[in-house]
Amino acid sequence: MHTIQQQIEALRRQLHEHNYNYYVLSQPTITDTEFDRLMRQLTEMEALHPEYHDPNSPSVRVGSDINKNFTQVRHRYPMLSLQNTYSEGEVTDFYNRVKKALNEPFEIVCELKYDGTSISLIYEKGRLARAVTRGDGKKGDDVTDNVRTIRNVPLVLKGDDIPPYLEVRGEILLPWRSFDALNRERAEQEEPLFANPRNAASGTLKMQDSRVVAARKLESFIYSMTGESLPSDSHYHNMSLARKWGLHVSGAMKKCRTLEEIFDYLKYWDTERRNLPVTTDGVVLKVDSLSQQRNLGSTSKFPRWSIAYKFNAEQAVSRLESVSFQVGRTGAVTPVANLEPVLLSGTTVKRASLYNEDAIRALDLHIGDSVFVEKGGEIIPKITGVDKEARFLSGDKVTFARHCPDCGTPLVRNEDEAAWYCPNTEGCPTQIKGRIEHFVTRKAMDITMGPETIALLYDKGLIHDAADLYTLQFSDLVQLDRWGETSAGNLLASIEQSKTVPYERVLYALGIRYVGETVARKLSLAFPAIDLLAQASPEQLTAVEEIGERIAQSVTDFFARPAFVDFVHRLQQYGLQFTLSEDALAAQTDKLKGLTIVISGTFALHSRDEYKALILQNGGKNSGSVSKSTDYILAGENMGPAKLEKARKLGVRIIDEKAFLEMIR
Ligand code: IVH
Repeated sequence: MHTIQQQIEALRRQLHEHNYNYYVLSQPTITDTEFDRLMRQLTEMEALHPEYHDPNSPSVRVGSDINKNFTQVRHRYPMLSLQNTYSEGEVTDFYNRVKKALNEPFEIVCELKYDGTSISLIYEKGRLARAVTRGDGKKGDDVTDNVRTIRNVPLVLKGDDIPPYLEVRGEILLPWRSFDALNRERAEQEEPLFANPRNAASGTLKMQDSRVVAARKLESFIYSMTGESLPSDSHYHNMSLARKWGLHVSGAMKKCRTLEEIFDYLKYWDTERRNLPVTTDGVVLKVDSLSQQRNLGSTSKFPRWSIAYKFNAEQAVSRLESVSFQVGRTGAVTPVANLEPVLLSGTTVKRASLYNEDAIRALDLHIGDSVFVEKGGEIIPKITGVDKEARFLSGDKVTFARHCPDCGTPLVRNEDEAAWYCPNTEGCPTQIKGRIEHFVTRKAMDITMGPETIALLYDKGLIHDAADLYTLQFSDLVQLDRWGETSAGNLLASIEQSKTVPYERVLYALGIRYVGETVARKLSLAFPAIDLLAQASPEQLTAVEEIGERIAQSVTDFFARPAFVDFVHRLQQYGLQFTLSEDALAAQTDKLKGLTIVISGTFALHSRDEYKALILQNGGKNSGSVSKSTDYILAGENMGPAKLEKARKLGVRIIDEKAFLEMIR
């Protein structure tokens, strides 16, 4: 019989192995569900036995909410940066300099220059001991807790030839996909967008709440090993060992003997990099032999054995015609540059984002300026600079609007925010129409009407807010220009239908700042009726998982405004859902409490995902593999023979769809 401690350690070993298979090899050997099951087993055992706590347990990847100020740590070996070069001529110069200084055969390793934020990882006896940012190169911030949440940073290295003290360096990145998703979410909540994945990655790494870091899906790429007793004199070979130990090392490394081979690499990756999931901004060239590196030495800033060759950012030059200011549904005012149309990475660009007042001031922007336009990660390109030398006839200096471009109300700016707001929440037509547009969207009330219809009805005085939609009469609509009986009937039917939209979506439709879809769902479960939510104190709100002070404040502000309270009351009168639906309530049964159910095969009545949801909603556990603890197998067509055999052996009951649905009826 194994002790509890041995069982915990065995689980940790298994999970480390599966993380490695998944994140480094991209070859998982178990299903996600099975992984989750092992992880749950581990976290439960760890919760019961805090005496076996290990900061490097795979369970720490979920992060913690402990608020910390980072401590500064001195780097044992300084973190230098690289000399940047921009042309093949400069690469040739570097190559010839090395050749002359060494006067013996040498090899150059070419690798991609990942554009994130650099990190130093210290492993003691094969276990992650510390992760430190570059800082000023001599000392950086200890961000170990945040780095522990990064999936492809191994917490414990594999293998038995690992030096007792090992320092590796690399780049922390946010892949494009995660970056886009993050910015989309921020745009929805009207929060300032990150300018590029690099800023997002370094900002995330410095966050105080490592749970947020864990949710953002950062990745690491290791590119060097530092120390005295390294396994090999070859950088290239050390990197392949690092990969074997479980560190995430890029596969795009090439050892080159000639300048031609180097240029081939540069040329290939200049185009191919566009297909990578992460940002790269160049190529790093390194002399492979560590003893040759030492012989070449460093200047005060840069090593002499390495340079960075930077790719050209795709850039276009255009002329600034004007700047417009737009108000969103929350009143935030965003500046937009109107440009002379210009071609950039295959699309014509006419407008560029200017972010906020500070960004405009930093550019010292004048109308008529020649501006550089680049595509960052955002949907809209950005202005990265002004060609001041081309400014011979200076137009007016661009200043931020002082009044709302729509209703003329003087704008206000909160102390700790970069954005200016139109405070006329209840009277500004753009904000009102914007809130109605949000109210009718598919994920909210799903009423089929576009912005033009909303503008028309608003201008005709038929609606003043979203609640007025429920007072619209057939006779009001048919008399409108180009409106027939069919379109009037369709709109009214769609409005009527929206009265069945469940509470959580109604909450989202209200357009409370920072209350997106997910937050609305969380709030609806925690406060199953609107009155409970309206009366909730900030403390009660922040007690809900993932609800922070900012959201809590926004919710209390909303219910403190008489106009909004009245708006909600009217919607209630018109019959919208303001309590958690029967379905959602019924979903919270404990009919399957204590039962572990494995799903296998294909089904006719519901999808596998739906069955999974049904198991969870009814208090059961869904597991990916059959074991002693399995109570039922929900079997469809083509159940795997291995599972069937195992089930028979263990005597697990096999049920079909109908029997299962009967159990939860
Ligand atoms: S080697 C002393 N290799 O670029 C040389 N750096 O300006 C240490 N970077 O601070 C750097 N990819 O953050 C190296 N394959 C790579 C890299 C890389 C990205 C970053 C790193 C460094 C900066 C150099």
